[in-house]
Amino acid sequence: MSESLTTVAYLGATILFILSLGGLSNPESSRRGNLYGMVGMAIAVLATIFGPHVTMAGIPWIVGAMVVGGSVGLYAARTVQMTQMPELVALMHSLVGLAAMLVGFANYIDPAASAHNTGADKAIHEIEIYVGILIGAVTFSGSIIAFGKLSARIGGKPVLLPGRHLLNLAGLLVVIWFGREFIHAASVQAGMTPLVVMTVIALLFGIHMVMAIGGADMPVVVSMLNSYSGWAAAATGFMLSNDLLIVTGALVGSSGAILSYIMCRAMNRNFISVIAGGFGTGGGTAAVKKEGEPAGEVTAISAAETAELLREAKNVIIVPGYGMAVAQAQHTVFEITKHLREKGVNVRFGIHPVAGRMPGHMNVLLAEAKVPYDIVMEMDEINADFPDTDVAMVIGANDIVNPAAQEDPTSPIAGMPVLEVWKGKTSIVMKRSMASGYAGVDNPLFYKDNNRMLFGDAKKMLDEVLVALKS
Ligand code: TAP
Repeated sequence: MSESLTTVAYLGATILFILSLGGLSNPESSRRGNLYGMVGMAIAVLATIFGPHVTMAGIPWIVGAMVVGGSVGLYAARTVQMTQMPELVALMHSLVGLAAMLVGFANYIDPAASAHNTGADKAIHEIEIYVGILIGAVTFSGSIIAFGKLSARIGGKPVLLPGRHLLNLAGLLVVIWFGREFIHAASVQAGMTPLVVMTVIALLFGIHMVMAIGGADMPVVVSMLNSYSGWAAAATGFMLSNDLLIVTGALVGSSGAILSYIMCRAMNRNFISVIAGGFGTGGGTAAVKKEGEPAGEVTAISAAETAELLREAKNVIIVPGYGMAVAQAQHTVFEITKHLREKGVNVRFGIHPVAGRMPGHMNVLLAEAKVPYDIVMEMDEINADFPDTDVAMVIGANDIVNPAAQEDPTSPIAGMPVLEVWKGKTSIVMKRSMASGYAGVDNPLFYKDNNRMLFGDAKKMLDEVLVALKS
């Protein structure tokens, strides 16, 4: 394939990637978005394999690597649980970082890659290598730690070393100093030492950065590492003079950065303070009651009583959360919704931007269960409607409906926008116990006079509600 044909194929792939990102921003067009991305990636891979930079001798190696990589990817994607998706994503980011590091070293050692470079060109090429390896190493080690934290192999509590900001600053200065040494090195052998020292510092920095971030901020960290992996890919594109990799890396880098910003806003967190670390506790622990906290009586309710309340309601808002995903209750939720709608009840869904464990988690589950898109509303669209709601039904959600975010300025989640279910005539919270949610804070909603608790596994209890509704 000629150089110009490859360029045209790359251009086509770039357009498909942009269309893919556009498609993924809406549940209705997300399947199409995925398809664009797949076709774009197929074109990109084929154009690269048959492009002018790959010789026939290299093709068996590429095919072999693709078979191994593709099989591992296929196996992982088929076996991973939806709730483990953030872990898988973190692991994949680590591979992008590792690839950027390895390409950087290979590019530096390869005499053919730099033979034609002299003077300013040589310096620019070496800066590309240095920065590429730097970003790749931070992404690699940071993502491995994020994977460890998300899969509970490492504790969620932030690990804060004394003088950590000074430590980071010192690391940065050393990296800059060795960067100068690297560019002025007389030979590849001489340049290797600063390159290796910088790589070690960058790896340590990645570990340190993510270890300092608490469990509650991990969603932002995953999308931030997503952004880093994009910049690592872009840096690889510069090293290899591959325009498609530069553009695609930049697309991933900037969309990851925008997503991090959106998530920070949804959790009322300042991006800089997330990165600086220190907030968040180990998730899922029973809330510890402190003085002044809203301990009190909760009113339990049965499945039959829940069905009775739903049957008498005119307006119902369902708020799903992580527990619905764990219990895989979305299909029963849809059955109940269908039944109530047939009886003339106005049923809608209120979706919090960080409900569950990944962006769009609830939308994916509800779409899978065939809940119509037009009754699935975002938090901002539906929050004002709770006062006119007869039953606000919370299914396995906790932090995203916690009134302490508005009422208690000392709460760790103070200021986080939440779905105001307690403003409904009656709210029903479905969960198995009084345990806290991901942020590990108590929830005063449970003790409110108009709140009822339906204890038990969400799927089991909803099955009972459905039977009672139909009887
Ligand atoms: P959480 O606050 O984590 O609450 C989920 C609740 O579901 C728990 O309190 C748990 O109570 C209940 N539950 C678990 N398994 C259940 C089951 N089988 N049946 C019924 N209930 C069950 O979830 P949320 O309200 O969706 O809020 C999300 C939280 O996760 C936020 O703090 C958010 O910042 C964080 N986070 C979000 C993301 C993204 S991007 N969405 C990623 C990572 C973290 P029991 O144990 O008593 O049943």
